Amino acid sequence: MPERRATATASPNIAFIKYWGNRDPALRLPANASLSMTLSNLQTNTTVLFDDRLEADQIEIDGSPASDKAASRVTKHLDLIRTLSGNPTFANIHSLSNFPAGAGIASSASAFAALTAAASKAAGLELDKKQLSILARRGSGSAARSIFGGFVQLFSGEVNTDGYAEQLAPAEHWHLVNLIAVVTKEHKSIGSSEGHMLAPTSSIQAIRVQDTARRLEICKKAIMQKDFQTLAQIVELDSNLMHSVMMTSDPPILYLEPESISVMKHVTRWREDGLAVCYTIDAGPNVHCICSLEDSPEVERQLRSIDGILDIYRCSPGNGVALAVTNEQSPQ
Ligand code: PMV
Repeated sequence: MPERRATATASPNIAFIKYWGNRDPALRLPANASLSMTLSNLQTNTTVLFDDRLEADQIEIDGSPASDKAASRVTKHLDLIRTLSGNPTFANIHSLSNFPAGAGIASSASAFAALTAAASKAAGLELDKKQLSILARRGSGSAARSIFGGFVQLFSGEVNTDGYAEQLAPAEHWHLVNLIAVVTKEHKSIGSSEGHMLAPTSSIQAIRVQDTARRLEICKKAIMQKDFQTLAQIVELDSNLMHSVMMTSDPPILYLEPESISVMKHVTRWREDGLAVCYTIDAGPNVHCICSLEDSPEVERQLRSIDGILDIYRCSPGNGVALAVTNEQSPQ
C-alpha cells in the first residue's frame, strides 16, 4: 500500500512586486505577475494522513480545530488533490506555524505550500515543483511562490497550467535581511481572498496592473545586480500602489495602523541618512523592513526605539518547500 501520510515544511515569502486581484477567481489566476523573496526562520509544518475510517476531513491549525472558514478552504484544496489522485478518502491534517496567521506575514503562502506538498505526496502523486506551484496557487496565489527558495517570480498565466512560479536566484545570491516590525498579532478582519475580489472596484487597479511588467523588470534587474537603491525605490512604490488600490476599493480596505505609518516614515528617513533599508507591507499592518546585512543591526536597533512595535522577526532569504525526511524524497 502506498504511503498515505506525509509531512512538509514551507516558509512564507515577502512580495517585492505584489499580486493583488485575480483575473480568474475560481482558478486564482492573478491579475498581474509578482516577485518575492522566500523567508528563512518562519515556517509552517503540515502533516496529512489519508484515513479510510474518516467521514470528513479533520483539520487542526496551531493546536485548535480549524474555523469553518479555514476548514472549508483546506477541504476545497484537498478535493483538488483527491480528484487528481482518484482517491476520495478524507484526511487528518495537523498544521503548525511558528508565527501569527493573518497579520500580513503571508501565513497562507506557507500554509498552502506545505499542505500541497504533504497532501499530494500522501495521496501518492509524484509532482515536480512546477506542478506543485500550479496546485499551491489554487489554495493561495502567493503559495505558488513559496514552493521555491530565494528570489521567485510568479507568472500571471492565461490558463491554469501557465500560472506557476519559477526561481530567479537562489537564497545565497544576495544576503538581504527582512526585519518584520510586528505592530499587531491580531487576525486581520478582511482576508486577502475578499480583498482580491474588491481590487477591480478601484480605478487605480487597472493602471497598477498595466504597469506591472515594467516594475517587475526593474526589480528583477536590481536583484540580479544587487543594486539596493533601485530595489528600494521600486519595492516601496509597488507596496504604496497596492495599498492605494486597497484604500480606493469599494468598500475601501485600510490595513495600515498608525504604527505602520510611523515605521514607513522612519525607514524613509534612515535611507536618506545612508542606511540601506526600505519598507514593504502585505495585506496587514506589519511592516517588512528590507535591508542589507551590514546595516541590519543598526536598522534593528533603531526599530526598537519606535513606540508600538511588539516584536521584530529577523529573516533572510530562505528555502522552498521540503518534505520531511521520513518520506524519503523531496519534491523534484
Ligand atoms: O496569496 P494571497 O491570496 O494571500 O494574496 C497575497 C497578496 C499579497 O500578500 C498582499 C501580495 C503578494 O503578492 O504576496
